[in-house]
Formats: sequence, C-alpha cells, structure tokens
Amino acid sequence: MILRPLNDRGVIARWQQYLPVTDATPFVSLNEGSTPLIHSPKLSRRLGQDCEVYIKFEGLNPTGSFKDRGMTVALSKAVEAGAQAVICASTGNTSAAAAAYAARASITCAVLLPAGKIAFGKLAQAFMYGAKVIAIEGNFDDALRLVREIGETESIAIVNSINPHRLEGQKTASFEIIEDLGDAPDFHVLPVGNAGNISAYWMGYEEFHRLGKSTKLPAMIGFQAAGSAPIYHRRVIEQPETVASAIRIGNPASWEFANRALHTSGGVIDIVTDEEILAAQLWLASNEGIFVEPASAASIAGLFKSLDPKRHCERRLPPIPPGSRIVCTVTGHGLKDPDVARDQCGGVIPAPAEKDAILRLLGA
Ligand code: F0G
Repeated sequence: MILRPLNDRGVIARWQQYLPVTDATPFVSLNEGSTPLIHSPKLSRRLGQDCEVYIKFEGLNPTGSFKDRGMTVALSKAVEAGAQAVICASTGNTSAAAAAYAARASITCAVLLPAGKIAFGKLAQAFMYGAKVIAIEGNFDDALRLVREIGETESIAIVNSINPHRLEGQKTASFEIIEDLGDAPDFHVLPVGNAGNISAYWMGYEEFHRLGKSTKLPAMIGFQAAGSAPIYHRRVIEQPETVASAIRIGNPASWEFANRALHTSGGVIDIVTDEEILAAQLWLASNEGIFVEPASAASIAGLFKSLDPKRHCERRLPPIPPGSRIVCTVTGHGLKDPDVARDQCGGVIPAPAEKDAILRLLGA
C-alpha cells in the first residue's frame, strides 16, 4: 500500500531529501507542516531595540500540534516495516497525532494516558480517530516506561519520540523557519516537556547550517513549567504538576540530547510559573489573535520573563542584543484545552433580544 499525497504538501513530500525515506516508503500524510511564521509587532515592540519576534504557529497542523511532523515519518516507516499496530504514551497531543495517522494508514493504535490528566480536546481526538484509549493510574513517565516494556516483547511499533523517526520529522520546522527568514534566527524559544522537540529543532538547525543554508545557529532557549522542571533542577521530579498538562513530565526521554542542544547552542533552560503561563496564553490570544494551549504559552511567558530586568538577574538567560531575530514556537492549538480556556474567560453579558438594550450595553 503506497499512499501518495495528491500535491506536494506534507512534511515528507516537501523535505524527503533530508528524511530517512526511500521510494519504497509509503507517505502516510495529512499535508502537515508548512505552518505560518507570524510576525508579532507587539512582542517586537516590547523587546524594542529593533528586535523582531516571530511566532511559529504549530497549532495549525492537521491534528492541532507539532506532533504531526514527526508522526507522518514515524507512521510511514512503521507501515514500510510491516507494522500492524502502533503504541505511544502521551500527555495528549502525541496520542491525537498517532491515532490520526494510524487511522490514515488503516492500522491499530493504542494510547496510554495518565488518567484524568488529559485536556478534553485531545482525548476527544484519540476517540474520534479510533484509537484504543487506555488510562493508567500513573503519570506520563509511568506510561512511557510501560510503553518501552511493551515494545521490548510485542511486535508493536513505538511512536513516542524515543523512535528516531519522530525527531527526524520534527526537525523540518527549523528548515521552514530558515526558508522563511532567509537565515536562522538568533534565538529560538520553545516549551520543553519530554525534550524531543528542542532536540529536533537543534538537529534541523545544525543540518541546514552544515549544508550552508544558514549563516548562523540560534541559541536554544527552553522553558519548563515550574512544577515540572527536571532539566532545570537537574533531577527527576517524581510528582510533576502544572496547569500546562502537555508538559507535565518529570523524567524527559530526550534529556541528554536536549542538554547537548542547550550546551552547544549557548542556550539555557529556565522555568515559568503556571500564573505566568496563563497570563501569556491570554495575552497572546487577546493581543495577537493567536490562541494556543497553555504549554505552548510557556515560550511567550518565557520571553516576557527574559524582558523583566529583576528576573533576568535571577537566572542565566542570555542578554538579547539589539537587532536580534527571535522565533517562539507555539506548539499546540488553544482549542485543545477548552477547560482551561473557560476558566480564563470572563462571564457573558446577559441581554434581552432588543437592539436598544444591546446598544446601551455597548455604551453607544
Ligand atoms: N507543547 C505541547 C503542546 C506538547 O504537547 C508537548 C509535548 C510539548 C510542548 C513539549 O514537547 O515533549 O518534545 O519537549 N507533548 C507530548 C505528548 C509529551 O505526549 O503529547 P517535548
């Protein structure tokens, strides 16, 4: 079964020369990738000194998160290898993407989720795409441990980011940014959970730099939620907690890889509180019209933190020189987590169905 897209969109179609695919690889694609890099005049102004801030809006992928980039490659390679089933642990987005791409490839998908800790939109996706949804009494780290154990004995392909095809697909976001900007940015800011994405971006930046497609490499700046910050604290967090459920992870699988990206790029890992995350989520939606899920807002919260001179001294955030170009990845769509959004909203204004009453309410 070879599934070819009808046009040249999709991560594999666009970037196949840089991906581990051959003529024998089926394209299991939903036309993912090629997401917009949106200039943010308001964030640029807040930074001042001729700095420019761009937002890579990964929530506009087919299942609403950056996971689709890696999943198209992981599922294509799994089908090529003859897999009949895939499995993953997830805080929600990986499971949504795995379920969708497995449906597309007509193979079975099982997802292991921490019970009661998945944003409703993501759970709905896993069900609708037809996955076997298993809620374990434990957190994401427990679910990933179980998936590793199952992968050792059963003939079922693991599609977590410990599968190297996932990071291969995800690195294409860096390629797109370099194409859009004409060069790599000076700083790349993103949320960190299992630490696969920061590692994948760094792979992409290094690869294009090696190929002479960019003149520089960005400093990678990662933000973890304060209650789930193992890389920042340099120790496993047994009971991670945060409102940003996507990054509620205490023992990241790509920890070593991420450390290398941070170290080689001259970047840092820092933390933002739940309050800062929620404030940044609301700010981005109401000021720039970009609605992202809480985990994604960690990058914007981090940018705000790095602008605060008091906070800046506290930690090792590098100074941002005048004229810098900064890309913030926002990883998932705001509609994924309707419960958090509802809690962020003010009440509706009740009114009779009368024009004059409404005009009075509008102060007209
Ligand atoms: N942002 C969102 C919206 C995510 O879903 C994730 C991870 C991250 C950021 C962090 O990326 O793990 O590569 O450092 N979500 C995974 C999941 C863990 O299961 O959906 P990371």
